[in-house]
Amino acid sequence: MKKTQTMAGRKRILLGVSGGVAAYKAAELVRLLVKAGIDVRVVMTEAATRFVGPATFQALSGQPVYTDLWDARIPDSMAHIELSRDRDLVVVAPASANFMARLANGLADDLLSTLCLARRCPLLLAPAMNVEMWENAATQDNVRRLASQDVGLLGPAAGDQACGETGRGRMLEPAQIFAAVSLRLGPKPLAGKKVLVTAGPTYEPIDTVRGLTNLSSGKMGYAVAQAAAEAGADVTLVSGATALEAPAGVTRVDVRTAREMREAVLPLARNSDIFIAVAAVADYRPAETHAHKLKRGAGSMTMELVPNPDILGEVAALKNGPFCVGFAAETENLQAYAQEKRRKKNIPLLAANLAQHAFGQESNSLILFDAKGEHELPLAPKLVVARQLLDHIAAMLPKRAR
Ligand code: PMT
Repeated sequence: MKKTQTMAGRKRILLGVSGGVAAYKAAELVRLLVKAGIDVRVVMTEAATRFVGPATFQALSGQPVYTDLWDARIPDSMAHIELSRDRDLVVVAPASANFMARLANGLADDLLSTLCLARRCPLLLAPAMNVEMWENAATQDNVRRLASQDVGLLGPAAGDQACGETGRGRMLEPAQIFAAVSLRLGPKPLAGKKVLVTAGPTYEPIDTVRGLTNLSSGKMGYAVAQAAAEAGADVTLVSGATALEAPAGVTRVDVRTAREMREAVLPLARNSDIFIAVAAVADYRPAETHAHKLKRGAGSMTMELVPNPDILGEVAALKNGPFCVGFAAETENLQAYAQEKRRKKNIPLLAANLAQHAFGQESNSLILFDAKGEHELPLAPKLVVARQLLDHIAAMLPKRAR
């Protein structure tokens, strides 16, 4: 086995560019990476060269660009092995639907797909494609398959597309990919820590087909789980029903009701260093769950609701329990209500957001309340905000003896 040639201090990435109009954004990504002192080697698919010429990437990276499996510049004709061996990370941006499909199925019919298959370092993909292509069941199957192969996904984002349509499938902006790559390459502030996150809504059944729930999509909690994993933590995500994939490397436990969430959380919390309660847990549930579908009656109907357990409150009260972070979504008086919630729950950190700007949205802004006061995290994609939250938590940790 050949020794990795990474020089101490200088990080090395291989940037793969596959065929898509977003290939032009990869040029800006190379510029940002090089400016940050990262050694960037670019490999393009044949289709990518139809969108942007290799000369652009060569000029920006200051290195030769590779496109051919049989490139004679690699002495032993082993480009698919040699090009990734000294790298800390492979990033493919843009990753087209076709490229992801080939990778998910282990096809290796050009330089980029072959070296991805032969790599030893982590791989991140920044998908870019038309919304229908992204939502197609075949692509979603491939996404699941890639996640199970520990391939990380950056995006895609939603918005206007080059084809004139609107929806999910846009490549993340170069600055966002750069931030994710830097985090991946940087020090891991939560290495060795166990982090437990709750996310999504709970569902409290009324009868066999109806129930009480809320508009939480799980996006904020999943972003927090991903950010914690990126920060090096061993992450378990206890999730209410959502349409989301678990982030790469995160263990997900599915629950439905608040009581199921409590049952899952309590034993895990005893063994965790940090507990971050992002879930929108129903405070009340119907006193009775009917075993058949209720029939419409003549007049109005009254339903008795009983309180659900306060999961965060119980975890915060554990002796030698984890460092607890609560979330609060309020529609008004954000500051006053959030401070009150932090005091009542007796937790060191509370992240407050405006309900109307947080539930179901792609972006969010938070105000963090701790013993020192307030700290604002401005509006940004939820993953960006989540990373800043995790940085804040990591900075608070050493001050607390466990
Ligand atoms: O999922 P998204 O669409 O991305 O939306 C994200 C979000 C708005 C759901 C999230 O950012 C958020 O604010 N979550 C908390 C929602 C809320 O209003 O919580 P709360 O005020 O009811 O509860 C306060 C805290 O106690 C929360 O950390 C909650 O998880 C926890 N809690 C609440 C009730 C309960 N029975 N048990 C709990 O543990």
